[in-house]
Amino acid sequence: MIEAIRDTSERTVSATRRLRGEVAVPGDKSITHRALMFNAMASGTARVDDFLDSDDTRSTIACLRALGARIEEVPGGVVVHGQGRAGLHEPDDVLDCGNAGTAMRLLAGVVASLPFYTVLTGDASLRSRPMGRIVQPLGELGVRIAGRKNNTLAPLAVQGGSIKGNRTVRTPVASAQVKSALLIASLAADGPVTVVEPAKSRDHTERMLSAMGVGIVEDGPSVTLTPLAGDLRAVDVRVPGDISTAAAWLVAGAVHPDAEIRLRGVGVNPTRTGIIDILRAMGASIEFQEERVVGGEPVADLVVRSSQLHGVEVFGDLVPRAIDELPLVALCGALASGETVIREASELRVKESDRVATTAMLLRAFGAEVEERPDGMVVQGRAKFHAATAASHGDHRLAMLGAVAALMTGGGDSRILGAGDVAVSYPGFWDDLARLSGA
Ligand code: S3P
Repeated sequence: MIEAIRDTSERTVSATRRLRGEVAVPGDKSITHRALMFNAMASGTARVDDFLDSDDTRSTIACLRALGARIEEVPGGVVVHGQGRAGLHEPDDVLDCGNAGTAMRLLAGVVASLPFYTVLTGDASLRSRPMGRIVQPLGELGVRIAGRKNNTLAPLAVQGGSIKGNRTVRTPVASAQVKSALLIASLAADGPVTVVEPAKSRDHTERMLSAMGVGIVEDGPSVTLTPLAGDLRAVDVRVPGDISTAAAWLVAGAVHPDAEIRLRGVGVNPTRTGIIDILRAMGASIEFQEERVVGGEPVADLVVRSSQLHGVEVFGDLVPRAIDELPLVALCGALASGETVIREASELRVKESDRVATTAMLLRAFGAEVEERPDGMVVQGRAKFHAATAASHGDHRLAMLGAVAALMTGGGDSRILGAGDVAVSYPGFWDDLARLSGA
C-alpha cells in the first residue's frame, strides 16, 4: 500500500460518558469544488457562501487562480469573477491538486475544454490513485490526455480544446468524479454527449450546470448534456452542510449509549443519503427537521439519538450513495448486534487510503473482529472497544473514524496519529468533538 504521511501531529481522545449538543456542519466538499470551478468558467460574478474552507478546496482555488480565475475572499465566503472559458489561460506551471481526487478529476474535465496544455499533479496518495478511469473515456471524447504508467496515474498532461459530441460514453465505475469530468469537458463539445454509469452517483454537477443554463436530461444512471452556445451563467451558491462530515456525528450519536446530537443545515440530496438509509435499517433514530431547499439542494437539520443497532448488509446501489461513509458503517457494525457485511465496494480500496485495509486495521486495534474481503469487509458485532493507538494513514476520514471509535471505549486514552489530516475536509473537527463530549 502506498501511503502519504501527511501529518505527524497526534491527539489524545478519551471515552466520553455523554455526547450532547449542536453542530453547524461545515460546507459540502463536493458542492464547494463545483461551485468554484463552474463559476470560474462562467460569465459573471457569483458569491459562494458557507463554502468549505479546507485543504482540499484550497487546492482547487489555487489551481483555478493559476488558470487565471479571479477568486476573492470575502467575509463568509468567496466571490468568483468569471470571464467565461476564454478568460482562462494556460498555466505557466504544473497544477497541484494536493490530496484532492475531486480537484484532479474534475479539473481534468475543465482543462480538457480549454485550448491549451495543462499538467495536473498531487500528493503521493493522489499520485497513486487510478486515473485511467478518466483518461480512457476523455480519450473517447477526443481529448489528448496522457499519464504515468501507461496513462493510469498522475501527473496527467492534457492538451484540451476540441471535444467530440454526438456520442455516448460509458464509465467503467459508478463515480461522480468520472461522470463530472466527462460532463464538464462536454461543455465544449460540438454536439450532445450522454454519459452512462453502472449505477447512479451523486448528481451535484448535473444540478449546478442546469442552474447555470445547460441542457441536462437525467434518466436513471444516464445523463445527456447539450452544450450551450455561449458561456455558463454565473450563479450564487449557498453551500449546504456536508453529509459525509455529519456522518461522523450521526454514527457517534447512534452508537453511544447516552447521546443526542443536532446537526444543522445538512445536505440531504438523495444521491448522498445512503448513510441515513443504512443507519435507519440498523435501527438508528434519526429525525429530519426544518426540511428546505438551499441552492437547488435539499437540506434539513438532523437529530440523532442513542439507538439499539443490529447488523446489516450493504451492497449494490447503496454503495455509491454512501461511499465515503462506509468506514463509519463498519464501526457501527462492530458495536451493533449480529454481523455487518459490506460488499461490492472495491472502490473503497482506491480512496485517499485503501479504506478496506485501513478501516479493518483501525477497528481491530480497538478490539473489533473484522474480516477483509477483496470488495469489502465482514464485521462481527458486540465488540467491546478498548483504548488504542490509531493511525490516519494520511486519510482524513480515518483520522475521524479513529476519534469516533476512541469515544466509545470502556475507558482510558486513545491516541490518534495524523490527527491534523482532518483539515482536508473538516478543519473544526477536534473543536466540535471537544464540545460534544464536554471535554
Ligand atoms: C466525490 C465523489 C466520490 C467521493 C469523493 C467526492 C465528488 O468519489 O468519494 O469524496 O465530489 O464527486 P467517486 O465519485 O470517485 O466515487
